[in-house]
Amino acid sequence: MFVISGGRPLCGVVSASGSKNAALPIMAASLVCSGQLRLSRVPDVVDVHSLRKLLATLGVRSTITADEPGGMTLEATSQKHHVAGYELVRKMRAGICVLGPLLASRGHARVSLPGGCNIGHRPIDLHLRGLSALGADLRVENGYVVAEADRLRGAEVNLAGPHGSTVTGTCNIMTAAALASGRTVITSAACEPEVIDLGHCLNRMGGNISGLGTPVIEIDGVDQLAGATHEVIPDRIETGTLLIAAAITGGDVTVLDARADHLVQTTNLLQHLGVCVQLPSSSGDAHRGTCEIRARANGRIRAAHVVAGPYPGVPTDLQAQLMALLCIAHGSSTVVDRVFPDRFLHAAELMRLGARIHRRGDSAVIDGVARLGGANVMAGDLRASAALVLAGLAAEGHTEIRRIYHLDRGYEQLETKLNGLGARITRTDDTPEPGSPHWRRQRRTASTT
Ligand code: UD1
Repeated sequence: MFVISGGRPLCGVVSASGSKNAALPIMAASLVCSGQLRLSRVPDVVDVHSLRKLLATLGVRSTITADEPGGMTLEATSQKHHVAGYELVRKMRAGICVLGPLLASRGHARVSLPGGCNIGHRPIDLHLRGLSALGADLRVENGYVVAEADRLRGAEVNLAGPHGSTVTGTCNIMTAAALASGRTVITSAACEPEVIDLGHCLNRMGGNISGLGTPVIEIDGVDQLAGATHEVIPDRIETGTLLIAAAITGGDVTVLDARADHLVQTTNLLQHLGVCVQLPSSSGDAHRGTCEIRARANGRIRAAHVVAGPYPGVPTDLQAQLMALLCIAHGSSTVVDRVFPDRFLHAAELMRLGARIHRRGDSAVIDGVARLGGANVMAGDLRASAALVLAGLAAEGHTEIRRIYHLDRGYEQLETKLNGLGARITRTDDTPEPGSPHWRRQRRTASTT
């Protein structure tokens, strides 16, 4: 759990880590690679380690390399295995990323269905529809997707779903199609930067993919993909979270090594809310497209109507953090999530800190309060945890956040980064040592609730 002593403005400079959501499908692409895949800027987060374990069961040897930040080498040394088991896939929904690569490289795959999750209904019908269009024979058997194909054949694949396209579905189909015979055209493809990054990596391996970043991706299949070197893009969700940390605490934070072009609508929104956002300066790296982004609080946050949507919209993965910010806005705001319409579980926990939120139709309505107050809360999913950390940083007094293992799935050393900016966050055991300050605080809270 985290114990946060809130109410201090965060100020200073911090670097963005590599993107978890880009790294995962890229790591899974090691299954279709005939040589070594050498990656840099892979974030040190639990989901990455869970995928390494899963890939190990599929014959992929991975090594952490110390020569550069986030260095990792992956190589498929055995083609024998094709089962991605429940125990590993249940820990990380993104385990489904191995389905397309396994099928394309080994002709068969047996992958556990990822199951439910706290942010709403998450089916994989579009993944299955896409692989079926490429000629796979698919069935669901005892909680597993079983897929078979001699060699996948290029085809037209439409990935439109009721809430837009699918990000990991596009990654699965694109990687599988890279080794299919002939041309695949994905329509209604996801345009997210993480999909583009995977496409660039596959092209470095010798793939032939065009249209990345547009809704129509064309893939001319090749017989073999070779080893390659690739640097993972910066994490736009982590960057956004750090910028919101500056805004919510009345601080001034500069995020280095970020991609401003991946966050245009988010930084526009922050400006609209009254945050002073300073975009690319000369200290960036033009070749890699990275830059620094500075967010400086500038008086009280303004209320707004926020809609989270597919890229280039405001990401659903920043919706909870933005809601935390709107809790202290001047006036009444609304939030709608077009990607996961029911992703509002964090609202109840934010209310424990004094936020005033209610549901009206598909919107969450947030009536801004002048200040939040510390409380005991429970993290329900990865991004909800981040929202609670932000709210705890802004709140007067102590906030205890339990189940922060959700946070560790996707943020690299978040508390170290925030403490470096002046936050006071302690990671501690859920059951504190008798007599410790945390134990005394828990007893005080228990006697008053
Ligand atoms: C990815 C991200 C996640 C982010 C989400 C949306 C990773 C590892 N995770 O998740 O952090 O919140 O994109 O940007 O990259 N859908 C279907 N059928 C399908 C697949 C999805 O109806 O077969 C629906 C989903 O329920 C959701 C929407 O489509 O409403 C988008 O989901 P999707 O893009 O697939 O999310 P993920 O790729 O799982």
